[in-house]
Order: sequence, then structure tokens, then C-alpha cells
Amino acid sequence: MRRVVLDFCLVLLSLHTPGVLSLSTHVAIVYPQDPVLRVGSNLTASCWVHPDLGVHASSLFWTLNGQQVPGSLYRVLSPSNLSLTLVGLNASRQTSGDNLVCHNHKGHILAGSCLYVGMPPEKPVNLTCWSRNTKDLTCGWAPGGKGETNISTQYRLKYKLRWYGTEKACEDYSHAQPYSCSITQDLHLFTPYEIWVEASNQLGRATSDVIILDILDVVTTDPPSGVLVSRVGQLEDQLSVRWEAPPALKDFLFQAKYQIRYRLEDSQDWKVMDDVGNQTSCRLAGLRPGTVYFVQVRCNPVGIYGSRKAGIWSEWSHPTAASTPHSERLMSGSCDSKSSGDSNSTLRRELKQFFGWVRKHAYGCSSMSMKLYDQWRVLMQKSHKTRNQVLQGDKS
Ligand SMILES: *[C@@H]1O[C@H](CO)[C@@H](O)[C@H](O)[C@H]1NC(C)=O
Ligand SMILES: *[C@@H]1O[C@H](CO)[C@@H](O)[C@H](O)[C@H]1NC(C)=O
Ligand SMILES: *[C@@H]1O[C@H](CO)[C@@H](O)[C@H](O)[C@H]1NC(C)=O
Ligand SMILES: *[C@@H]1O[C@H](CO)[C@@H](O)[C@H](O)[C@H]1NC(C)=O
Ligand SMILES: *[C@@H]1O[C@H](CO)[C@@H](O)[C@H](O)[C@H]1NC(C)=O
Ligand SMILES: *[C@@H]1O[C@H](CO)[C@@H](O)[C@H](O)[C@H]1NC(C)=O
Ligand SMILES: *[C@@H]1O[C@H](CO)[C@@H](O)[C@H](O)[C@H]1NC(C)=O
Repeated sequence: MRRVVLDFCLVLLSLHTPGVLSLSTHVAIVYPQDPVLRVGSNLTASCWVHPDLGVHASSLFWTLNGQQVPGSLYRVLSPSNLSLTLVGLNASRQTSGDNLVCHNHKGHILAGSCLYVGMPPEKPVNLTCWSRNTKDLTCGWAPGGKGETNISTQYRLKYKLRWYGTEKACEDYSHAQPYSCSITQDLHLFTPYEIWVEASNQLGRATSDVIILDILDVVTTDPPSGVLVSRVGQLEDQLSVRWEAPPALKDFLFQAKYQIRYRLEDSQDWKVMDDVGNQTSCRLAGLRPGTVYFVQVRCNPVGIYGSRKAGIWSEWSHPTAASTPHSERLMSGSCDSKSSGDSNSTLRRELKQFFGWVRKHAYGCSSMSMKLYDQWRVLMQKSHKTRNQVLQGDKS
């Protein structure tokens, strides 16, 4: 038997047998043609062959997606009509449908039909919208229920201005991101939008909840540009980060809010500093000496034209790498562990205390506490040197 596997659904209506039939006559037909059915339903299809073909229905067989269907599901209705009953239909493997094909005893295709087996859409959920620099309004959603309907389903994003608008449909569906659409024209600031999604297919339709929003409340922006990470003198546990406000919003009245996150070169765990406020520079402290760090910054344009909503964070900037200086003591490496053990543990205790304090008070970008911290560092370095001198004095 010749096995026929079709990747997409083709409806083949006629077999040309010149001289026997005119080309316009169907020699065979599968009924029903291209039905749309719910998952779990039953289907009785029939394959009728023209009597002039001299083919008896009992010699025919069926395939579904290239797989022969067992003869126990067939019934010969008449010498020219063979039926097939499928019980509890599975969802279509592809939205282009399943191939139900009727073959003659040699395996040649006589006729076919596409089966579209799926479910009506469920109510779309998680509709959220954002506006990049107030230049568009993009909304994304998730299909309801378990996800797919397994048949072709259209999602339409609809919107209107709250008080006097007429209903409009979003046109610009994203090819890169499924279930999203961008409104790019005739945007109105200071007027609430009503937005919803309508899902429909041949088995039914469903509408999401309506959300109401003002573009200025959902503004997001580009990540900060020109992120620079540099050392703070010889301070081996610190890096300084600076960046520029997003240029696209430079003509807007708003309060930017920033976040920094950083991680060790060989770690996937980001540490987030979310108390950076609206400054465009910040000091990272408590880092490991002689270590490469990756740093990213993002921006939240809060309060555009006085909006009171939280704003939406931008993407993170591209990671910028920098390394902290090697610690002096590590580099010198000359200390005898026995003789300097005391000073090491004392220093560590002090450092631990101070980092505890730093975490509570100075951690972040308050310039006041950074100043204090710098002073403390100078003191510590001095006392460390003195101690080493004392110890070395003891040794000799
Ligand atoms: C499908 O057929 C089975 C067995 O004949 C029957 O029990 C079931 O109720 C039918 N289902 C539907 C949806 O008609
Ligand atoms: C073949 O049988 C089916 C099922 O009984 C029927 O609906 C259809 O009309 C028949 N076709 C022909 C051409 O007789
Ligand atoms: C549905 O899928 C199951 C498992 O793959 C299979 O056993 C069954 O025959 C399928 N039913 C139909 C009607 O194709
Ligand atoms: C129906 O669609 C879902 C989601 O795309 C898929 O995971 C599932 O395999 C499909 N069902 C069948 C029978 O192909
Ligand atoms: C919708 O959002 C909720 C809460 O954020 C989440 O738990 C759920 O997985 C989302 N549903 C879909 C289909 O994405
Ligand atoms: C930063 O915020 C403070 C208080 O929240 C405000 O006084 C200051 O003007 C802001 N600076 C910038 C550049 O927005
Ligand atoms: C200080 O303590 C650390 C950690 O316990 C240890 O690795 C190091 O060798 C010590 N250094 C000195 C100089 O004792």
C-alpha cells in the first residue's frame, strides 16, 4: 500500500480518468466537506464514488493524517457509498486541519476533506498595556483557558475613548510577539481609554474584561544609555556607576526612578538596588576585591505630567562590566598567618560590623552616608597599617 502523508490539508476532488468521464465531473466526493467540529464530538463521513468508475465501495479505505483507519469503523451504505464513523474526535494536530482521505484499493487518492477539530475560544485574560515614550499604546494578553483552541482563532484588540469615542480596532498586530497589538495613531493623552480583546473562531466567541487606562499612567521608556562603571580610587570593595536619563523623554516633565542590579561574573544571581531614586549615579559598596561585576540599570518614568500611577520599568540596559581593584593585603600576600591572625580577625570583625551598618544606612546612593563610609575607610586603612607595623615590629 502506498502511504500518503500530507503536511497540510489538501482537498483533492477529482481523479482524471480520460475517456471515461468528462473532467468537470467529480469521480468521487467525501461528505461533509471541511467540517468544523468540537473536540470530543463524533463524525460520520462518507466517500461516494461515481458508479461509472466501476469501483465498489467495499474496496475503498480511509486515512486520517496519513494513517489508515481500521475497517471496523467503516460501513458500506451502498455499492458506491462507504461511510466512516469517528467517535470522540481529538483536537486537530495543526490549525490547517486534519486530512481525511478516501483511497481506492491501490491506495490512490479518490477524494478528501479537511477536519477542523477544536474548541471555542475562552475569555482572553491578563490584558495589559504600555506606552513606549507616549508614542504608542501596545497591549498584550493571554488566550483564556488552557491556551489553544486548535483551530484558527482571531483575536481583535478593540478600544474607544471613554466618554465620546467610537469603537475602533487595533490594526498593528505584532509578528514577533503573539497576542499583542500596537495602536500608533491618533493617540490621546489625558483621556481614558477603554480596551478589550475579542476572540472568535467558527465554534464561538469570547470577550475579555474591559480595562480602563490613561496613556500617561502606563508609560515605559528606553533603558538608560551610556552606563559607565568605574573604580573608586583604590577602594577594592566599591564601584561607581553613572548613566544618562533616557533621551526620548527629555522634553517631558517627569521624575525618573532608577534601579541598578549587579552580579559576579560567574554567578546568575542579580543583586538589586532599588533605592537609587532619581539620581543618575550611584556607588556600589561591599563588593569583593579583584572581581569582575556586571552592572545594569533601568528606568521608570514616574509621574509624567503629574500621573500618580507607579509607571512601568524599562528593560535593563546592556550589561556593563568592570572589576574591583585587588585588595592590597591579598596582593602583598606576605603576612605570616600566625603573627597577623589577631589583626585579621579584629579587622574582619570591624569590617563585618561596618558592612552591617552600611547595609542598613549607607547601602544605596545617599551621598551623605557614602562620605561617612569613605572617612571610615581612610581610618581603617590607617589603623590597619599601624597594626601591621606594630606586628612587624614584634616579629623582628
Ligand atoms: C458519540 O458516540 C458515542 C458512542 O456511539 C456516544 O456514546 C456519544 O454520546 C456520542 N457523543 C456525542 C457528542 O454525540
Ligand atoms: C452517502 O451516504 C451518506 C450517509 O448516509 C449520505 O449522507 C450521502 O448523501 C450519500 N451520498 C450519496 C452520493 O449517495
Ligand atoms: C485520539 O487520540 C488517541 C491517543 O492518541 C487515539 O488512541 C484515538 O484513536 C484518537 N481518536 C480519534 C478519534 O482519532
Ligand atoms: C492543541 O493545541 C495545543 C496548543 O497549541 C497543543 O499543545 C496540542 O498538542 C494540540 N492538540 C493536538 C491534538 O495536537
Ligand atoms: C495571568 O496572570 C496571572 C497572575 O499574574 C498568572 O498567574 C497567570 O499564569 C496568567 N495567565 C496566563 C494564561 O498567562
Ligand atoms: C529628584 O528628587 C528630588 C526629591 O524627590 C527632587 O527635589 C529633585 O528635583 C529631583 N531631581 C531630578 C533631577 O529630577
Ligand atoms: C585572614 O583571614 C582569611 C579568612 O579567614 C584568611 O583566608 C587569610 O589567610 C587571613 N589572612 C591573614 C593575613 O591571616
